[in-house]
Amino acid sequence: MNFELTKTDPSGARAGTLTTDHGVIQTPIFMPVGTVGSVKAVTQEQLRNDIDARIILGNTYHLYLRPGLDVLKQAGGLHKFNGWDRPLLTDSGGYQVFSLAANRKIKEEGCLFQSHIDGSRHLFTPENVMDIQRVIGADIIMAFDECPPYPSEYQYAKRSMELTHRWLDRCIKRLNETTPEYGHEQTLFPIVQGSTYKDLRKISAEAIASRNCAGNAIGGLSVGEPEADMYEMCGLVTEILPKEKPRYLMGVGTPWNILQNIELGIDMFDCVMPTRNGRNGMLFTWQGVINIRNKKWATDFSQLDAENPCFASQNYTKAYVRHLFVAGEILGMTLASIHNLCFYLELVKAAREQILQGTYGPWKTKMIPQLKTRL
Ligand code: GUN
Repeated sequence: MNFELTKTDPSGARAGTLTTDHGVIQTPIFMPVGTVGSVKAVTQEQLRNDIDARIILGNTYHLYLRPGLDVLKQAGGLHKFNGWDRPLLTDSGGYQVFSLAANRKIKEEGCLFQSHIDGSRHLFTPENVMDIQRVIGADIIMAFDECPPYPSEYQYAKRSMELTHRWLDRCIKRLNETTPEYGHEQTLFPIVQGSTYKDLRKISAEAIASRNCAGNAIGGLSVGEPEADMYEMCGLVTEILPKEKPRYLMGVGTPWNILQNIELGIDMFDCVMPTRNGRNGMLFTWQGVINIRNKKWATDFSQLDAENPCFASQNYTKAYVRHLFVAGEILGMTLASIHNLCFYLELVKAAREQILQGTYGPWKTKMIPQLKTRL
């Protein structure tokens, strides 16, 4: 993997180019989430042709439980299994184990948990999570971490962060002892933790930077803390992480969160919001947020979103998509998901253009209140 920083705007926002064996990604970028190897309600064709997604996510936790490693290995990895031939990133399970699994027990060795599907018992360790991500075969793979809940006591957050750092060294060691299953390169991103404690965030960012990995991530944010805390932590961490390497803020967020964090020097984002909220009828636009189930759209025969270039936004009306939601038709979820993902990709594309022109700061300040408007 290679990262080239093309430009840093006066505000601190960055434009770059990330190159992997499966393709090139212009940053800042938003990565649609495909938890079980599928971006919910959207086909690969739509992702490629309508949304123009450049990289998508998968989850180690889900893929390990279903379809399981035998199937993934026989398929030749997730790229072959789901037909997505552009870059893939897998999260390590270090978040899903803590948010989904039952009866978790965290030990030095790893995390014991019960599957949310059938209650079966499993152990994730830094070593086997690296091995599993080798079998899944994503281009970018994440270190096994603990994401502490919000709020966490200082002593808990500190011990948890230290465990994440020790687990990171075991991840790095295991990767150095193994080789990719399918020939293409796999790059490890370690994850900064430290909850909402400034000193812990600084210690963690320094520890992560010292491992000298090709890219770095920030975790443990957007877990219920006030937005101001998220920005403060993110700003502290990006001051410390190396400038020449990509920075990925995990699980964030709303369109305005993304614009604010781009200014703090973040290059990569993922979030379930465009798809999950889309399936509930929430549409993000440049003019603000629409609840398409609202009665006010019942006879609005204007385009779903005239400013969004995808087929769904251009060729279906608000009234029709509202009807689909009210009638419980699955097409409504598909159209809303395509619309939202296309909007998120347009948002980061527009941000990149502003960065390249050196006008990001004032543009962001103007856009945020607009994006937050309830239509
Ligand atoms: N996704 C969102 N936040 C996190 C985090 O802290 N750790 C991991 N592994 N994934 C995440």
